[in-house]
Amino acid sequence: MPQNNLKGIVLAGGNGSRLSPLTDSISKQLLPVYDKPMIYYPLSTLMLMGVKDILLITTKRDQALFKNLIGTGEKFGIKISYEVQEEPRGIPEAFILAEKFIKNSKVVLILGDNIFYGHDLTTQLVYSASKNYDATIFAYRVQNPSRFGIINFNKENIPTYIEEKPKSSKSDFAITGIYIYKSNVVKYAKKLKPSERGELEITDLNNIYMKEKKLNVEILGRGIAWLDTGTFESLQDASLFIKTLEMRQGLKIGCPEEIAWRLNYIDDRKFSNIAKKYVKSPYGNYLRKILRESN
Ligand code: DAU
Repeated sequence: MPQNNLKGIVLAGGNGSRLSPLTDSISKQLLPVYDKPMIYYPLSTLMLMGVKDILLITTKRDQALFKNLIGTGEKFGIKISYEVQEEPRGIPEAFILAEKFIKNSKVVLILGDNIFYGHDLTTQLVYSASKNYDATIFAYRVQNPSRFGIINFNKENIPTYIEEKPKSSKSDFAITGIYIYKSNVVKYAKKLKPSERGELEITDLNNIYMKEKKLNVEILGRGIAWLDTGTFESLQDASLFIKTLEMRQGLKIGCPEEIAWRLNYIDDRKFSNIAKKYVKSPYGNYLRKILRESN
């Protein structure tokens, strides 16, 4: 069941300094991942979950570029609002900035540079969101734990604590960039103190929920791909991954127009008009092709 009462936040600020000079004049989340802007992938993940009310948090500098690309969300049959994060003061600041947006709703936050793909992913996300937990996070096995928030488990497989970018770690389970919380997250986020690197840490927030036994940890299995775009190599690998699957199947990954149309958020006429706009691009050919095939 799609989550109509669930609101979404895409956090797409930050200064992307690990990808300079690519990000000197444009946000990382607008960079291409094969045939579409990076932000389309996390946006698609939220849309597939049935989330129709989404707040997009960006830098002040690039808000106009995001608005130019996505607008009010009307073309995708959803509602997009915008908020500026003046400085990258940490992921949980998103909840403080979004206080008025969240009100009493449950909220799913996705990082604007996180790409998820896989069979039954949406089912797992929607099912988790429907449960009555205060907080749900998703762990995924990785080969390079020192780059992520890492969750440790005891012998009984009960989560014990999360560590942000540990130099060495017994656990290989990273916390991915999709998080679901009840509206009390705003209150919890406001209590956080900046870490040594001067940021509010999502790991601190999740550790509080864990301490209070209010945290649900879901494992994303090996049938799911969680792609990283944090380095030149992983950005290129993500593009190749998307390209390989799209070329093999003739179907696109993370195409918000297609999702909107398949979920009946937009009708054939609107979909066809978008396809016409992209007449010179294979992206437009694809939209026209799937529309033709459905009739
Ligand atoms: O990708 C998952 C990882 O994301 C988690 O495993 C870590 O626990 C979590 O801290 C985070 O680690 P990163 O090192 O990837 O965080 P980064 O600072 O690169 O920020 C992730 C994205 O969020 C990035 O696209 C920029 C955006 N961001 C980040 C911060 C700190 C903002 O928009 N504003 C911010 O203040």
